[in-house]
Amino acid sequence: MSTPILQARNVTKSYPGVKALDNVNLTLMPGEIHALLGENGAGKSTLIKYLTGVHQADSGTLLIGGEERNFANPSDSTAAGVGVVHQERNVIREFTVAENIVLSRTPKKCGFIDWKKVNSEAARCLALMDLDIDPGTPISSLSSAQIQLVEIARALYTETKVLLLDEPTASISDAEAAKLFKVIHRLKADGAAILFVSHKLDEVYAHCDTVSVLRDGKTVLSDAALADHPQDEIVNVMVGRSLASLVTPERTVDSTQEPVLELRNVTTTAGHGGISLQVRPGEILGLYGLVGAGRTELAHAILGRERITEGELLVNGHTAKIRSVRDALHEHGIGYVTESRKEEGVFLDQNITRNVAATTWGKLAGPLGVVGAGRERELVAKYIDELSIKVSSQDQLAGQLSGGNQQKVSLAKWLAADPRILIIDEPTIGIDVRTKRSFYELIWGLAEKGLAILLISSDLAEMITLADRIVVMDSFTLAGTVDNTHHYDTMSQDVIRLIHAKALV
Ligand SMILES: Nc1ncnc2c1ncn2[C@@H]1O[C@H](COP(=O)(O)OP(=O)(O)OP(=O)(O)O)[C@@H](O)[C@H]1O
Ligand SMILES: [Mg+2]
Repeated sequence: MSTPILQARNVTKSYPGVKALDNVNLTLMPGEIHALLGENGAGKSTLIKYLTGVHQADSGTLLIGGEERNFANPSDSTAAGVGVVHQERNVIREFTVAENIVLSRTPKKCGFIDWKKVNSEAARCLALMDLDIDPGTPISSLSSAQIQLVEIARALYTETKVLLLDEPTASISDAEAAKLFKVIHRLKADGAAILFVSHKLDEVYAHCDTVSVLRDGKTVLSDAALADHPQDEIVNVMVGRSLASLVTPERTVDSTQEPVLELRNVTTTAGHGGISLQVRPGEILGLYGLVGAGRTELAHAILGRERITEGELLVNGHTAKIRSVRDALHEHGIGYVTESRKEEGVFLDQNITRNVAATTWGKLAGPLGVVGAGRERELVAKYIDELSIKVSSQDQLAGQLSGGNQQKVSLAKWLAADPRILIIDEPTIGIDVRTKRSFYELIWGLAEKGLAILLISSDLAEMITLADRIVVMDSFTLAGTVDNTHHYDTMSQDVIRLIHAKALV
């Protein structure tokens, strides 16, 4: 048997109040794609930070190519051939794409930066990912999905024997993910080892060979062949008990009720034209489309971030002029769970309580307008429980939570605001399987109580599970509507046909 490329033995790491890794073991062999799975907060990112010298462990051993190594910082691990794409975006915003790509080893000539080489090397890496981005572009002008792709390209800059990918596909489209998988398989064929973290189990099963599972910082399945462990079983291993299958409730929407949210033939500054849609109380309306179809921008137009130049927006049957997200909530009862939670959804330097209560001052205030700390904590405790947010206490800073748990805090914030209309953009990115199910149940519960929900998701299966009707968008216009019959195959064909029919016109 060949020598493992990377081996971590008995790694333990504590943060104040939590043992994030508890005697963890991991072995990566040449030419394998190894899935690292576990629920939100299980310790996946912490392990990757240890393997790349971002954090030190309390104890444990790391072997690279059979040799014991101790990475004091990230440059050490890069020099040893360990490439990484972290879960959080990790770029210097003031730099160009090229400068970010070559950062770990900037090409020099006679002591000066060799700009020609900087650009040609960056162009080479971008081409590997099939990315049509000029290396001289300031990175701050890119979307967060594009930055994610540039970070993947950057991981290919130096020769990598090991590539560690922490949820690289969370916020990119399927087409972009396909390019990533092509690269991964090529590296595998060249004998590299790839560690792949994802909550999207379908892609894990499509591409990975081996699997390790973490639960509460412990290795509960180690270096196993994925083919020996069907998906249901792996989910049970992650969760630590058997998970009952999701029961879709019988849903009926009273179509005689007046819509609470309506767009009439709307044109916007973002480029939409002729958009008409209605959402009734208790209805979950899905807005589906490919990345770039104009769904998030439509939410922004409703919330006043883009202007409606023609047509009408009505809330509760009355023409509404909404100027801001704040205005939307306080004047019209519209809550908005944004897609870019990292940038605007969560205050990372504030504790959980402050984050969840951020939108609810009015509701929690007593007669004198003072927010009772007790009531605030009670409300927050309810959401920590309902969304199983993994925290050591309510006073923990949001920035110290795992990626998925930060996401849950952002959701909790809007649920706590008790809106009448909720616009939710890509709610389950980075959320583990079990929480996804409790989230679906929560959404059904809210609709049952009469909330009108506009759901934006790129996950068609999720859309078919949740939405009563699916409005398909393409190129900033509506391509058509599909009623939910819960027949996955026929519905997905109908949806895809609508997208293509539009593209052919
Ligand atoms: N800087 C930090 N300070 C304190 N605790 C932290 C810090 N970073 C992580 N933790 C805690 O360590 C535990 C493991 O977190 P980690 O980010 O490794 O989880 P994860 O498996 O990557 O989850 P996710 O799927 O949500 O990304 C969590 O309980 C988290 O709150
Ligand atoms: Mg993580």
